[in-house]
Amino acid sequence: MKALTHQELRAKWFTFWQNRKHLVLPSASLVAEDNGSLLWNNSGVAGLKQYFLGNKKPPASRLTNIQKSLRTSDLSLIGITNRHLSFFEMMGNFAIDDYDRRQAILWAWEFLTSVQELNIDPQKIIIVYFKEDQKTYQILKNDLKLTDQQIVSAGRETNFWDLGVGPCGPNLEFYYDYGSVFDEQKQGIKLLEKNIENKRYLEIWNIVFSEFINDGTGKYRQSPTSNIDTGAGLERILMVLQNKQNPFETDLFDSARKKLEKISGVNYISSLPNQWNSKISQNNYFFQVILDHIRATTFMLSDLLASNEKINFQKGRGYIIRKMIRTAIMKTKFLNSKPFMISTLISSFVDSFQPFYPNLGKYKNTIEQIVIKEENQFRLLLNHLKIKQLFDKPPQSLSAQTIFLLVTSLGFPLEFIVNIAHQKSIKLDLENFQKLWTKHQKLSADKKIKKTWIEKPKNFIKK
Ligand code: ALA
Repeated sequence: MKALTHQELRAKWFTFWQNRKHLVLPSASLVAEDNGSLLWNNSGVAGLKQYFLGNKKPPASRLTNIQKSLRTSDLSLIGITNRHLSFFEMMGNFAIDDYDRRQAILWAWEFLTSVQELNIDPQKIIIVYFKEDQKTYQILKNDLKLTDQQIVSAGRETNFWDLGVGPCGPNLEFYYDYGSVFDEQKQGIKLLEKNIENKRYLEIWNIVFSEFINDGTGKYRQSPTSNIDTGAGLERILMVLQNKQNPFETDLFDSARKKLEKISGVNYISSLPNQWNSKISQNNYFFQVILDHIRATTFMLSDLLASNEKINFQKGRGYIIRKMIRTAIMKTKFLNSKPFMISTLISSFVDSFQPFYPNLGKYKNTIEQIVIKEENQFRLLLNHLKIKQLFDKPPQSLSAQTIFLLVTSLGFPLEFIVNIAHQKSIKLDLENFQKLWTKHQKLSADKKIKKTWIEKPKNFIKK
């Protein structure tokens, strides 16, 4: 296996596909353009949709990219699983009416396992395919010569890629096997059959055979072209190559993680090689959320600034950025919080990523100014006596009225009250709060009440 750096992996990706006559496309902006319902691009194919729909002629029938992607749907999993990120880079190769599934599978296999490429042990790769897709099964058996221990069939829920509208089709996934040490009951591939998210197997590559188009009402028609859409997770492949248990321990986060350790005076405890931390330590959890959210914020702001869209922190994209900045600041409260702790991290991310994403360098100063302002504002709110007390002298319980007051008068999100209560063992009367809140919403005809973030407490506690 080759222990590549993130820069080396990107370079290797492009060389491999260029050698196979793919045209390199730059990453599209994170800011989704032509998708009414999508605020941020969330996959490599998002920016290429029009080619797949047959609405626009592609510049070439073979394309490759590394796309900046953001999935807000995964926010609550960050720091909880060992694999999820909000922002990530998706490496893609695409064929629009060009090569077929066999070729796509053979090249994926070559990139992952050949000695000249990533040189991952082929025995450590498991493939999950859509059970009705017999063509794929034959390729796995006859061309890759995989044993039944390396092949898993799965149903529509996991192996038919469909975003509810647009191009879709059966997909197959490559998983890396971290070994039986992560499989207490030694269940092997049964783990994957039960739940694709498990400690032992990590999905690193997904190929969609994009053959259908969902019209948005669940009606499918044959696509005008037969397409290949690949998504390989850069962070996850780096985890495998660098022998790490989670993306925050790869070189992508090294510089920011060390800086956060220095400012907080708290050490991040790396997972030991080949050991899974089933109980992520609380400090690691705080580190991971902060690192994830501020890296994502840096990228989101750089693309939003480049798009010239006016940033509105009350709604849409701006609202998500504010939520992530504030969530990160909240986590610093449990890591010897200091002023500017969050904004200081931006330069580490800019330095690590700007060789590949020049917008970061271009907008660095503005990004820092925006985040410093946000950080100052939110820290002022956190210093309000009523909120400060929750951290410094936590009461045993909070009444519904007090919670209501914090949410409505101070604009302090319910999600944060729930988080603090969880950390500080404060009992909350949420049932009566909900009643007050519902009544309040009904009364508020002008609908000017700020949205609050209601989320269940995170399901982990390290004693
Ligand atoms: N578009 C596919 C994905 O996002 C490859 O996983």
